Amino acid sequence: MMWRCRTPLCMLVLLAGGCEPPPPAGDPSKPVAGSYSSVEQSLVDEGRATYERYCVGCHGTAGDGAGDARRFLHPPPRDFVAANFKFSSTRSGQLPTDDDLRRMIRNGLRGSAMPGFGLLPDRTIDALIAYIKTFSPRWKEQEGEPTPIPFVEDPYRLEPDKTAAIQRGEVVYHGYANCWACHPAYVPQPRLNEYLVQFGNPPRDEFRPDLYQAVGKENEEGEIVYPPDFRRDYVRAGVRVEDLYRSIAAGISGSAMPTWVDSIDLPGPTPDSPPLVSKADLWAMSYYVQWLLSQRPPLLKEGQFVVRDRPRPIYLYGAPPKAVKPEAPPDEQTQKAVEETFTP
Ligand code: HEC
Ligand code: HEC
Repeated sequence: MMWRCRTPLCMLVLLAGGCEPPPPAGDPSKPVAGSYSSVEQSLVDEGRATYERYCVGCHGTAGDGAGDARRFLHPPPRDFVAANFKFSSTRSGQLPTDDDLRRMIRNGLRGSAMPGFGLLPDRTIDALIAYIKTFSPRWKEQEGEPTPIPFVEDPYRLEPDKTAAIQRGEVVYHGYANCWACHPAYVPQPRLNEYLVQFGNPPRDEFRPDLYQAVGKENEEGEIVYPPDFRRDYVRAGVRVEDLYRSIAAGISGSAMPTWVDSIDLPGPTPDSPPLVSKADLWAMSYYVQWLLSQRPPLLKEGQFVVRDRPRPIYLYGAPPKAVKPEAPPDEQTQKAVEETFTP
């Protein structure tokens, strides 16, 4: 098979001097678990071809995450042989559903090197999924389909103003779920103590050092991963409130981030009183985290993107109403955009 370098990633890898053609298809060293019907087999074959074109540079020929680009990447590409997937709608430690894999391949994982492949047809994505599953016997060994965590009714869905949700989220985040044990706290210490007391916890004289910063946590692969500081960092699995609910409720496999959906219930003081905390509060925390994320300063202001020597700006959120005509020659303009971006 002739191997040609077409994708930007491949060019990058070539430039870095680490490009070697992958071994020919049908490499017997490649683990292909189980046996397949001819329909499944043709999907797997199609998946292999697409994988070798788009994914191999990062995830590696053997699917072990050791592609040529690995040494440049943190977090590293997923190892499909170990098959510890992070962002799923299933409980920590369980395999993701096909919908989860589809979503991640389509959308990518923002803040990591994993790009989105939203332009690939559905069938091609299904083929990629079928192929990825051949790398690990875990897929054949699991009993039945993985089950997603329950999405309880969102009590705030129909409210146009989410202030109540955000405020409740702040209280539960700090007072009950202690998300600040790993992520930063976002309220002054006296207020944090007020929130703790609301859920029957004793107030504290002292909190961890660097309370307003994230604490690095080791993941299963022994890498230190920093939980996102929502006012500063990207979250990977999406910022829609449903995405945040999924990440918070299901947790992140292999990392310190726990599955919350099973431990977010606290009954009221008497059998007749409403619960102090319930699964609905997962929504409140999702709105709260989304609100924190919305405060993240944009890296570049709109209109500051200029591609090399082309004087045509690229807009993040669509062109502004009035067409902007570049006044300065491209070089000067690029210089100006760079200066504006990097001077506070
Ligand atoms: C430029 C490098 C790069 C390319 C190309 C790439 N990936 Fe990834 N991929 C990553 C990285 C890095 C991660 C891990 C992100 C993390 O841990 O937050 C990842 C993670 C994943 C995950 C796991 C998500 C999870 O929940 O654990 C899947 C599935 C995946 N990639 C599929 C693909 C497929 C399919 C392709 C090709 C169509 C592909 N990737 C191409 C870098 C890449
Ligand atoms: C024991 C430590 C720990 C606690 C407690 C914790 N987290 Fe996390 N959280 C993490 C780590 C580590 C990550 C990053 C995982 C990764 O990217 O590999 C993370 C990631 C996240 C993400 C980002 C998911 C994405 O798409 O990238 C969200 C949202 C989140 N946590 C919300 C919460 C909320 C809300 C709470 C409290 C209910 C909480 N976390 C409690 C450790 C923790």
